Amino acid sequence: MSETDFTQTDTDEPTAETDAAAESETTAGETDERVREEWRDYEFAGEAKLSVEDLDVHYGDDHALKGVSMDIPEESVTALIGPSGCGKSTYLRCLNRMNDRIEAARIDGSVQLDGEEIYQDGVDLVELRKRVGMVFQAPNPFPKSIRDNISYGPRKHGDLDTGLVARLLGRDDTDDELELVQQSLQQAALWDEVKDRLDDNALGLSGGQQQRLCIARCLAVGPDVILMDEPASALDPVATSKIEDLIEELAEDYTVVVVTHSMQQAARISDQTAVFLTGGELVEYDDTDKIFENPESQRVEDYITGKFG
Ligand SMILES: Nc1ncnc2c1ncn2[C@@H]1O[C@H](COP(=O)(O)OP(=O)(O)OP(=O)(O)O)[C@@H](O)[C@H]1O
Ligand SMILES: [Mg+2]
Repeated sequence: MSETDFTQTDTDEPTAETDAAAESETTAGETDERVREEWRDYEFAGEAKLSVEDLDVHYGDDHALKGVSMDIPEESVTALIGPSGCGKSTYLRCLNRMNDRIEAARIDGSVQLDGEEIYQDGVDLVELRKRVGMVFQAPNPFPKSIRDNISYGPRKHGDLDTGLVARLLGRDDTDDELELVQQSLQQAALWDEVKDRLDDNALGLSGGQQQRLCIARCLAVGPDVILMDEPASALDPVATSKIEDLIEELAEDYTVVVVTHSMQQAARISDQTAVFLTGGELVEYDDTDKIFENPESQRVEDYITGKFG
Protein backbone atom coordinates (compact mmCIF):
# COMPACT_ATOMS: atom_id res chain seq x y z
CA MET A 1 0.00 0.00 0.00
CA SER A 2 1.43 3.39 -0.90
CA GLU A 3 2.14 6.19 1.57
CA THR A 4 -0.51 8.61 0.40
CA ASP A 5 -1.25 11.67 2.48
CA PHE A 6 -4.85 11.18 3.42
CA THR A 7 -5.02 14.28 5.60
CA GLN A 8 -5.80 16.24 2.49
CA THR A 9 -9.37 15.04 2.39
CA ASP A 10 -9.89 16.24 5.93
CA THR A 11 -8.56 19.75 5.45
CA ASP A 12 -9.95 20.54 2.00
CA GLU A 13 -13.04 22.68 2.11
CA PRO A 14 -15.61 21.06 -0.14
CA THR A 15 -16.81 23.36 -2.89
CA ALA A 16 -20.49 24.24 -3.07
CA GLU A 17 -20.80 21.88 -5.99
CA THR A 18 -19.35 18.82 -4.31
CA ASP A 19 -21.08 19.74 -1.08
CA ALA A 20 -24.58 19.25 -2.42
CA ALA A 21 -24.01 15.85 -3.92
CA ALA A 22 -21.46 14.67 -1.49
CA GLU A 23 -22.81 14.61 2.04
CA SER A 24 -22.48 11.07 3.18
CA GLU A 25 -23.81 9.27 6.19
CA THR A 26 -21.18 7.63 8.28
CA THR A 27 -21.20 4.90 10.85
CA ALA A 28 -19.11 4.07 13.87
CA GLY A 29 -15.56 3.16 12.99
CA GLU A 30 -15.52 5.25 9.87
CA THR A 31 -14.33 8.81 9.43
CA ASP A 32 -16.76 11.64 8.75
CA GLU A 33 -15.25 12.32 5.34
CA ARG A 34 -17.37 13.69 2.53
CA VAL A 35 -17.55 11.77 -0.71
CA ARG A 36 -16.32 13.81 -3.65
CA GLU A 37 -17.89 13.43 -7.06
CA GLU A 38 -14.50 13.08 -8.73
CA TRP A 39 -13.72 9.96 -6.68
CA ARG A 40 -16.43 8.07 -8.50
CA ASP A 41 -16.43 9.84 -11.81
CA TYR A 42 -14.41 7.17 -13.57
CA GLU A 43 -13.26 8.05 -17.05
CA PHE A 44 -12.21 5.36 -19.46
CA ALA A 45 -11.42 4.93 -23.13
CA GLY A 46 -13.95 3.00 -25.19
CA GLU A 47 -17.66 2.46 -24.94
CA ALA A 48 -19.84 2.14 -21.86
CA LYS A 49 -21.82 -1.09 -22.05
CA LEU A 50 -23.99 -0.07 -19.12
CA SER A 51 -24.73 3.45 -17.99
CA VAL A 52 -26.28 3.86 -14.57
CA GLU A 53 -27.63 7.28 -13.54
CA ASP A 54 -28.97 8.31 -10.11
CA LEU A 55 -30.05 4.83 -9.16
CA ASP A 56 -31.98 4.59 -5.90
CA VAL A 57 -33.39 1.42 -4.43
CA HIS A 58 -35.73 1.25 -1.46
CA TYR A 59 -36.95 -1.92 0.22
CA GLY A 60 -40.00 -0.52 2.00
CA ASP A 61 -38.56 2.30 4.12
CA ASP A 62 -35.01 0.97 3.88
CA HIS A 63 -32.93 3.05 1.46
CA ALA A 64 -30.53 0.37 0.17
CA LEU A 65 -28.87 2.22 -2.73
CA LYS A 66 -28.39 5.98 -2.79
CA GLY A 67 -28.03 7.88 -6.01
CA VAL A 68 -25.53 5.61 -7.70
CA SER A 69 -24.19 6.78 -11.06
CA MET A 70 -21.67 4.58 -12.78
CA ASP A 71 -20.66 3.73 -16.34
CA ILE A 72 -19.41 0.21 -16.95
CA PRO A 73 -16.95 -0.27 -19.82
CA GLU A 74 -17.56 -3.07 -22.30
CA GLU A 75 -15.36 -6.15 -22.57
CA SER A 76 -13.72 -5.79 -19.19
CA VAL A 77 -14.09 -6.97 -15.61
CA THR A 78 -15.65 -4.55 -13.14
CA ALA A 79 -15.39 -5.59 -9.49
CA LEU A 80 -17.90 -4.41 -6.89
CA ILE A 81 -16.59 -4.52 -3.34
CA GLY A 82 -17.75 -3.31 0.06
CA PRO A 83 -18.91 -4.55 3.44
CA SER A 84 -21.91 -6.81 3.91
CA GLY A 85 -25.22 -5.03 3.45
CA CYS A 86 -23.85 -2.07 1.48
CA GLY A 87 -26.00 -2.90 -1.54
CA LYS A 88 -23.72 -4.78 -3.96
CA SER A 89 -26.23 -7.53 -4.76
CA THR A 90 -29.01 -4.97 -4.94
CA TYR A 91 -26.99 -2.97 -7.45
CA LEU A 92 -26.13 -6.05 -9.51
CA ARG A 93 -29.76 -7.13 -9.66
CA CYS A 94 -30.76 -3.70 -10.98
CA LEU A 95 -28.63 -4.32 -14.07
CA ASN A 96 -31.00 -6.97 -15.44
CA ARG A 97 -34.12 -5.99 -13.51
CA MET A 98 -34.00 -8.99 -11.18
CA ASN A 99 -35.15 -6.63 -8.40
CA ASP A 100 -38.50 -6.47 -10.22
CA ARG A 101 -39.16 -9.86 -8.66
CA ILE A 102 -38.82 -8.48 -5.13
CA GLU A 103 -42.15 -7.02 -4.11
CA ALA A 104 -40.76 -4.60 -1.52
CA ALA A 105 -38.19 -3.14 -3.91
CA ARG A 106 -38.72 0.29 -5.47
CA ILE A 107 -36.24 1.35 -8.10
CA ASP A 108 -35.74 4.92 -9.30
CA GLY A 109 -33.20 6.19 -11.78
CA SER A 110 -31.88 5.02 -15.08
CA VAL A 111 -29.93 2.05 -16.41
CA GLN A 112 -29.00 2.03 -20.07
CA LEU A 113 -27.70 -1.00 -21.91
CA ASP A 114 -25.98 0.02 -25.15
CA GLY A 115 -27.70 3.38 -24.80
CA GLU A 116 -31.21 1.90 -24.39
CA GLU A 117 -33.13 2.43 -21.17
CA ILE A 118 -33.93 -0.91 -19.54
CA TYR A 119 -36.39 0.70 -17.07
CA GLN A 120 -38.98 1.73 -19.61
CA ASP A 121 -42.33 0.29 -20.50
CA GLY A 122 -42.32 -2.43 -23.07
CA VAL A 123 -38.88 -3.87 -22.32
CA ASP A 124 -38.93 -7.62 -22.87
CA LEU A 125 -37.52 -8.97 -19.62
CA VAL A 126 -36.80 -12.41 -21.05
CA GLU A 127 -34.76 -10.84 -23.83
CA LEU A 128 -33.05 -8.49 -21.35
CA ARG A 129 -32.00 -11.39 -19.12
CA LYS A 130 -30.66 -13.25 -22.13
CA ARG A 131 -28.43 -10.28 -22.89
CA VAL A 132 -27.54 -9.69 -19.25
CA GLY A 133 -27.04 -13.08 -17.61
CA MET A 134 -26.48 -13.82 -13.94
CA VAL A 135 -24.35 -16.33 -12.04
CA PHE A 136 -25.08 -16.69 -8.32
CA GLN A 137 -22.98 -17.37 -5.25
CA ALA A 138 -24.15 -20.95 -4.75
CA PRO A 139 -23.99 -23.06 -7.90
CA ASN A 140 -27.59 -23.85 -8.84
CA PRO A 141 -27.63 -26.34 -11.71
CA PHE A 142 -30.98 -27.86 -12.63
CA PRO A 143 -31.42 -31.46 -11.44
CA LYS A 144 -31.05 -32.59 -15.05
CA SER A 145 -28.28 -33.90 -17.23
CA ILE A 146 -25.24 -31.76 -17.98
CA ARG A 147 -26.40 -31.53 -21.58
CA ASP A 148 -29.91 -30.43 -20.61
CA ASN A 149 -28.56 -27.78 -18.27
CA ILE A 150 -26.93 -26.10 -21.25
CA SER A 151 -29.66 -26.61 -23.83
CA TYR A 152 -32.62 -25.86 -21.55
CA GLY A 153 -32.44 -22.08 -22.06
CA PRO A 154 -32.04 -22.08 -25.85
CA ARG A 155 -34.81 -24.71 -26.14
CA LYS A 156 -37.10 -22.65 -23.93
CA HIS A 157 -36.42 -19.55 -26.00
CA GLY A 158 -37.22 -21.53 -29.15
CA ASP A 159 -33.68 -21.32 -30.50
CA LEU A 160 -33.29 -25.11 -30.50
CA ASP A 161 -35.86 -27.72 -31.45
CA THR A 162 -35.18 -31.29 -30.41
CA GLY A 163 -37.21 -34.30 -29.34
CA LEU A 164 -39.98 -36.26 -30.92
CA VAL A 165 -42.17 -33.41 -32.12
CA ALA A 166 -39.21 -31.65 -33.74
CA ARG A 167 -38.19 -34.88 -35.45
CA LEU A 168 -41.73 -35.40 -36.73
CA LEU A 169 -41.81 -31.85 -38.03
CA GLY A 170 -38.46 -32.33 -39.72
CA ARG A 171 -36.65 -29.53 -37.88
CA ASP A 172 -34.51 -31.51 -35.52
CA ASP A 173 -31.65 -29.43 -34.08
CA THR A 174 -29.88 -32.28 -32.28
CA ASP A 175 -26.58 -31.58 -34.07
CA ASP A 176 -26.83 -27.87 -33.29
CA GLU A 177 -27.59 -28.74 -29.72
CA LEU A 178 -24.44 -30.81 -29.35
CA GLU A 179 -22.41 -28.06 -30.95
CA LEU A 180 -23.81 -25.47 -28.56
CA VAL A 181 -23.30 -27.75 -25.56
CA GLN A 182 -19.69 -28.36 -26.56
CA GLN A 183 -18.96 -24.73 -27.32
CA SER A 184 -20.49 -23.43 -24.09
CA LEU A 185 -18.69 -26.02 -21.98
CA GLN A 186 -15.42 -25.26 -23.73
CA GLN A 187 -15.87 -21.55 -23.11
CA ALA A 188 -16.48 -22.31 -19.44
CA ALA A 189 -13.35 -24.51 -19.31
CA LEU A 190 -15.39 -27.57 -18.35
CA TRP A 191 -15.62 -29.59 -21.57
CA ASP A 192 -12.60 -31.81 -21.01
CA GLU A 193 -13.85 -32.83 -17.59
CA VAL A 194 -17.40 -33.71 -18.65
CA LYS A 195 -17.35 -34.63 -22.35
CA ASP A 196 -17.75 -38.34 -21.58
CA ARG A 197 -20.62 -37.85 -19.15
CA LEU A 198 -22.92 -35.32 -20.79
CA ASP A 199 -25.98 -37.38 -19.86
CA ASP A 200 -25.05 -37.69 -16.19
CA ASN A 201 -26.95 -35.63 -13.68
CA ALA A 202 -25.31 -32.25 -13.13
CA LEU A 203 -25.77 -32.59 -9.38
CA GLY A 204 -23.06 -35.26 -9.45
CA LEU A 205 -20.42 -32.67 -10.36
CA SER A 206 -18.16 -31.05 -7.78
CA GLY A 207 -19.05 -27.57 -6.53
CA GLY A 208 -16.43 -25.94 -8.74
CA GLN A 209 -17.59 -27.91 -11.77
CA GLN A 210 -21.20 -27.01 -11.02
CA GLN A 211 -20.30 -23.32 -10.94
CA ARG A 212 -18.53 -23.57 -14.30
CA LEU A 213 -21.60 -25.41 -15.61
CA CYS A 214 -23.75 -22.50 -14.45
CA ILE A 215 -21.42 -20.13 -16.30
CA ALA A 216 -21.69 -22.35 -19.41
CA ARG A 217 -25.48 -22.32 -19.05
CA CYS A 218 -25.40 -18.54 -18.91
CA LEU A 219 -23.15 -18.36 -22.01
CA ALA A 220 -25.40 -20.72 -24.00
CA VAL A 221 -28.12 -18.13 -24.46
CA GLY A 222 -25.64 -15.65 -25.94
CA PRO A 223 -25.35 -12.79 -23.43
CA ASP A 224 -23.32 -9.59 -23.78
CA VAL A 225 -23.05 -8.98 -20.05
CA ILE A 226 -22.44 -11.51 -17.29
CA LEU A 227 -23.27 -10.53 -13.72
CA MET A 228 -21.65 -12.64 -11.03
CA ASP A 229 -22.51 -12.39 -7.34
CA GLU A 230 -19.59 -13.82 -5.34
CA PRO A 231 -19.20 -16.66 -7.84
CA ALA A 232 -16.29 -18.31 -6.06
CA SER A 233 -17.05 -17.75 -2.40
CA ALA A 234 -18.36 -21.29 -1.90
CA LEU A 235 -15.36 -22.90 -3.62
CA ASP A 236 -11.95 -24.20 -2.58
CA PRO A 237 -8.76 -22.41 -3.72
CA VAL A 238 -8.20 -24.60 -6.80
CA ALA A 239 -11.78 -24.22 -8.04
CA THR A 240 -11.62 -20.52 -7.22
CA SER A 241 -8.54 -20.02 -9.30
CA LYS A 242 -10.21 -21.77 -12.25
CA ILE A 243 -13.17 -19.43 -11.99
CA GLU A 244 -10.84 -16.43 -11.76
CA ASP A 245 -8.93 -17.50 -14.88
CA LEU A 246 -12.22 -18.02 -16.65
CA ILE A 247 -13.52 -14.57 -15.70
CA GLU A 248 -10.40 -12.94 -17.12
CA GLU A 249 -10.80 -14.89 -20.36
CA LEU A 250 -14.49 -14.08 -20.66
CA ALA A 251 -13.72 -10.37 -20.47
CA GLU A 252 -12.19 -10.58 -23.93
CA ASP A 253 -15.67 -11.05 -25.38
CA TYR A 254 -18.09 -10.15 -22.61
CA THR A 255 -18.70 -7.39 -20.10
CA VAL A 256 -18.29 -9.00 -16.69
CA VAL A 257 -19.47 -7.40 -13.45
CA VAL A 258 -18.46 -9.36 -10.38
CA VAL A 259 -19.20 -8.90 -6.69
CA THR A 260 -16.53 -10.24 -4.41
CA HIS A 261 -15.59 -10.14 -0.73
CA SER A 262 -12.03 -11.02 -1.57
CA MET A 263 -9.76 -8.01 -2.03
CA GLN A 264 -7.11 -10.25 -3.55
CA GLN A 265 -9.60 -11.56 -6.07
CA ALA A 266 -10.77 -8.09 -7.05
CA ALA A 267 -7.16 -6.95 -7.41
CA ARG A 268 -6.21 -10.03 -9.45
CA ILE A 269 -9.04 -10.21 -11.93
CA SER A 270 -10.65 -6.81 -12.39
CA ASP A 271 -9.83 -3.86 -14.61
CA GLN A 272 -11.81 -1.37 -12.55
CA THR A 273 -13.20 -1.51 -9.05
CA ALA A 274 -16.21 0.21 -7.50
CA VAL A 275 -16.27 0.48 -3.71
CA PHE A 276 -19.66 0.70 -2.00
CA LEU A 277 -19.76 1.51 1.69
CA THR A 278 -22.32 1.25 4.44
CA GLY A 279 -25.44 3.20 3.61
CA GLY A 280 -25.63 2.07 0.00
CA GLU A 281 -23.43 4.70 -1.57
CA LEU A 282 -20.78 4.36 -4.20
CA VAL A 283 -17.72 5.99 -2.65
CA GLU A 284 -14.96 5.42 -5.14
CA TYR A 285 -14.69 3.95 -8.63
CA ASP A 286 -11.49 3.81 -10.62
CA ASP A 287 -8.87 1.60 -12.21
CA THR A 288 -8.31 -1.35 -9.92
CA ASP A 289 -4.61 -0.46 -9.43
CA LYS A 290 -5.55 3.03 -8.34
CA ILE A 291 -8.16 1.78 -5.87
CA PHE A 292 -5.79 -0.70 -4.28
CA GLU A 293 -2.59 1.33 -4.38
CA ASN A 294 -3.70 4.87 -3.87
CA PRO A 295 -7.40 5.36 -3.05
CA GLU A 296 -8.71 8.86 -2.49
CA SER A 297 -11.13 7.97 0.29
CA GLN A 298 -9.85 7.27 3.79
CA ARG A 299 -12.77 4.91 4.34
CA VAL A 300 -11.89 2.98 1.19
CA GLU A 301 -8.29 2.77 2.40
CA ASP A 302 -9.51 1.49 5.78
CA TYR A 303 -11.84 -1.01 4.14
CA ILE A 304 -9.32 -2.51 1.75
CA THR A 305 -6.65 -2.73 4.43
CA GLY A 306 -9.09 -4.60 6.64
CA LYS A 307 -9.65 -1.96 9.32
CA PHE A 308 -13.42 -2.51 9.05
CA GLY A 309 -15.98 -4.43 7.05
N1 LIG B 1 -35.24 -8.78 -0.67
C1 LIG B 1 -34.98 -7.82 0.24
N2 LIG B 1 -35.95 -7.32 1.02
C2 LIG B 1 -35.70 -6.35 1.93
N3 LIG B 1 -34.49 -5.81 2.14
C3 LIG B 1 -33.47 -6.27 1.41
C4 LIG B 1 -33.66 -7.29 0.41
N4 LIG B 1 -32.46 -7.56 -0.18
C5 LIG B 1 -31.58 -6.73 0.43
N5 LIG B 1 -32.18 -5.97 1.36
C6 LIG B 1 -31.51 -4.95 2.20
O1 LIG B 1 -30.81 -4.04 1.38
C7 LIG B 1 -29.53 -3.76 1.91
C8 LIG B 1 -28.46 -4.17 0.89
O2 LIG B 1 -28.47 -5.58 0.76
P1 LIG B 1 -27.60 -6.33 -0.33
O3 LIG B 1 -28.00 -7.77 -0.28
O4 LIG B 1 -27.69 -5.63 -1.62
O5 LIG B 1 -26.13 -6.13 0.27
P2 LIG B 1 -24.74 -6.79 -0.15
O6 LIG B 1 -23.77 -5.67 -0.26
O7 LIG B 1 -24.92 -7.65 -1.33
O8 LIG B 1 -24.38 -7.67 1.14
P3 LIG B 1 -23.56 -9.07 1.23
O9 LIG B 1 -22.12 -8.72 1.03
O10 LIG B 1 -23.85 -9.53 2.63
O11 LIG B 1 -24.09 -9.99 0.19
C9 LIG B 1 -29.45 -4.50 3.23
O12 LIG B 1 -29.79 -3.60 4.24
C10 LIG B 1 -30.48 -5.58 3.09
O13 LIG B 1 -31.00 -5.94 4.33
MG1 LIG C 1 -24.72 -9.69 -1.67
